[in-house]
Amino acid sequence: MKLLVTGGSGFVGSNFIRYMLGAYPDVSVVNLDKLTYAGNPANLADVENEPRYSFVKGDIADAAIVESILSEGGFDAIVNYAAESHVDRSILDPKAFLTTAVFGTYTLLEATRKFAIPRFVQISTDEVYGAIMEGETLESAPFEPRSPYSAAKAAADHLVASYWSTYQTPVVITHAANMYGPYHYPEKLFPLFITNLIEGKKVPVYGDGMLVREWLHVDDHARAIDAVLRRGVLGESYNIGTGDRLPNIEITKKLLALLGKDESSIEHVKDRPGHDRRYALNSQKIRRELGWEPKIGFDEGLATTVEWFKANEAWWKPIKSGEYQKYYDAQYGGDRVS
Ligand code: NAD
Ligand code: DAU
Repeated sequence: MKLLVTGGSGFVGSNFIRYMLGAYPDVSVVNLDKLTYAGNPANLADVENEPRYSFVKGDIADAAIVESILSEGGFDAIVNYAAESHVDRSILDPKAFLTTAVFGTYTLLEATRKFAIPRFVQISTDEVYGAIMEGETLESAPFEPRSPYSAAKAAADHLVASYWSTYQTPVVITHAANMYGPYHYPEKLFPLFITNLIEGKKVPVYGDGMLVREWLHVDDHARAIDAVLRRGVLGESYNIGTGDRLPNIEITKKLLALLGKDESSIEHVKDRPGHDRRYALNSQKIRRELGWEPKIGFDEGLATTVEWFKANEAWWKPIKSGEYQKYYDAQYGGDRVS
C-alpha cells in the first residue's frame, strides 16, 4: 500500500505514519507537510532513514506540488491530516485555518480526481457537531460548529462529501474525539499541563474546569484509520471515540497525582470564548462495521503519556523555549528531504 499522508509531521499524522510503517512491511508513505509551527521533523526522526518513507515540504493548497508527488504513480490512498488544529489560535486569527481546510482540501480533492486515486480519507473532528449537552452524537447529526477551527473543518467535510455526491470521488470522512499521546504539541491541554508540572509551573484551567471531552489515545486512532483505509465504505463517515468522557478538572487532578503535585499548582483562568461544554461521540458504527475498538484504557494511556513526556524533555524543551523554529528552518529549509 502506497500512501500520501498530508500533515504527517504533526502530532496525529506522525503517530499514524510510525504505526503504519511499523505494522506493515508493504506500506510506503510520502509525507507532504508545510512545517508550520506545529510540524516537527523530529516527530519522525526514527523513520527518517527508512527507505519506505519520504518527506516533501509543501502546502496542500499548492496544486503543483501535490500533482508532482502524485505523478510518481502507484498511490492507493491520500490521508489528509493537514490542518491548523488549535482552537485558541483560531480565535486569535482564523485565516490560515480556512485556507488550509477549505482551499487545501479542495486542492487535494481535485488531484484525487485527476489522478484517479482510489481512496481519499479526510481526518476530521468531533468538534464539527458542536457542543453535545446530553446523549451522544451519531454520524447523521447535523454540523453545528462554534469556533473558527471547527467551522473550517466542517466546511472541508461538506466539500469532501459534495465530491462524493457530485463526482463519485472515493472519499471517507472520520470524526475523532480528543487525542493524547507522544509528540503532542505543548499548547494543548495534556502536553501543556504535563510539561508545566514537570517544570514546576502552574496549570491554567479554563473557566470552571467542568468542560467535558472524550479522550482517545493517538495509537488507537492510528488503528482506526488503518481500518478505514482497508474496510471503510466509500461515501461514509465514521466517528472514532472511546466513551472515556471526563471534565478537564478531573484530568488535571489525575495529572497532579501522577506528577506528585497538589492543587496549589492549579490556576483558574478566563474561559475560552464560545467554549463547547461537552463532546460525546457514538462510535458504534466503526466498531460494528469495521471491527475496530480502542485497546488503550484512559488511566493506562494517561500514565504512559506522562512517562513519555518525562523521558523526552529533549523533544519538548526546545519547542517551549522557542528554539525549535530556528532548528527546523536550519535543518529542513529545503524542499525534498529524503
Ligand atoms: P498538529 O497541529 O499537531 O499538526 C498539523 C500538521 O499539519 C503539522 O505538521 C503542520 O505543519 C501541517 N500543516 C498545516 N497546514 C498545512 C498545509 N497547508 N499544508 C501541509 N501541511 C500543513 O495537528 P494534529 O493534532 O496532529 O491534528 C491533525 C489532524 O487531526 C487535523 O486535521 C485535526 O483537525 C485532526 N484531529 C485532531 C485531533 C486532536 O485531538 N489532536 C482530534 C480530532 C481530529
Ligand atoms: O475534539 C477534538 C479536538 O481536540 C481536535 O479537533 C483539535 O484539533 C484539538 O486541538 C482538540 O481541541 P480542544 O480545544 O478540545 O483541545 P485543547 O487541548 O485545546 O483543550 C482541551 C480542553 O482543555 C478544552 O476544554 C479547553 C481546556 N484547556 C485547554 C488549554 C490549552 C484548559 O482548560 N486550559 C488550557 O490551557
